[in-house]
Amino acid sequence: MYGVAAGSHLTSLAVRTAGLTKAYAGRTVVAGLNLEIPSGVVSGFVGPNGAGKTTTIRLLLGLVRPTAGTGSVLGEPLQHPARYLWQVGAMIEGPAFMPGLSGHDNLLCLAQAGGLPPIRVRQALERVGLADRGRDKVRSYSLGMKQRLGIAAALLPAPRLLVLDEPTNGLDPAGIAQMRELIASFRDEGMTVFVSSHLLSEVELVADHLVVIRAGSLVFQGTVQQLAQSQVPHIIAAVEHAADAGVVADIAGALDWDCEITAPGEVRAPLPPTTSGSEASARAAELNRRCHAAGVTLIRLDVSRPTLEDAFFGLTGTSSGDIR
Ligand SMILES: Nc1ncnc2c1ncn2[C@@H]1O[C@H](COP(=O)(O)OP(=O)(O)O)[C@@H](O)[C@H]1O
Ligand SMILES: [Mg+2]
Repeated sequence: MYGVAAGSHLTSLAVRTAGLTKAYAGRTVVAGLNLEIPSGVVSGFVGPNGAGKTTTIRLLLGLVRPTAGTGSVLGEPLQHPARYLWQVGAMIEGPAFMPGLSGHDNLLCLAQAGGLPPIRVRQALERVGLADRGRDKVRSYSLGMKQRLGIAAALLPAPRLLVLDEPTNGLDPAGIAQMRELIASFRDEGMTVFVSSHLLSEVELVADHLVVIRAGSLVFQGTVQQLAQSQVPHIIAAVEHAADAGVVADIAGALDWDCEITAPGEVRAPLPPTTSGSEASARAAELNRRCHAAGVTLIRLDVSRPTLEDAFFGLTGTSSGDIR
């Protein structure tokens, strides 16, 4: 585990903020975030476009000043970025490189500017699988290669914390899978990775921990399992004749279940989140028997367990990631 840093009593947190807020011209774009990102995990930072992910990342990297709130990165206060930035690697919003220079030479310029040993350039290129193409001009690189070069640049300081802003944006499925493997390998080496995406699907397979924001505010923070469990399973019953939905609702009511008619002829009854699969089936069977006894024919009877995507939709109001 990482050592105890001055001023930090929670050494297992790589990032911690309290009330972190940023307003531009009076418009709040990051609203009172209380982040707790554990060390040594991949934390996925998700929210629709415009939710404030990049701004939050800029705040954490000391690139913009908070309007209010405090925080620490690797145990050092946000007000003193120089104390922690040397251990942080970052790639924000599609890295810019000089297209006429090779990948190698672009990194060499960065290493020299950062006072880092030139040997790191070759190591970083190898680490992201670009050693073979390092001498080619960046203008000949695919988008996926440019993204990997961006990550190589972020690796130059040999960081403990790697912050990647939308590294899978625009990549094809193969590129996304490669990026996922790369991110998992950084975690396996002990780095903490904070990786943003507007699409849950692009981080859910690699993230241990999730931070979900919407319109600048935190809507969920915790493990992927906790997000899945935050969703309530339902029994959904559809009747042959829409007019019978009220009878089904009465039957469910007599069983002491909450329920509502959600569409003509469709009744939904939420189940307690801890309901097991067999318990849910038993309830569905009981509803079916009682409906049958009451002369109501069901044309559908399902137990629905919401997916992670449903949970994300419920929290952010979007699954496409493109609506604020
Ligand atoms: N420098 C800035 N000045 C004014 N508004 C900004 C600035 N940077 C970002 N914003 C606004 O803040 C909101 C959040 O943007 P951003 O952090 O880029 O979101 P995300 O990365 O989640 O897509 C957007 O409405 C954006 O227009
Ligand atoms: Mg962004």
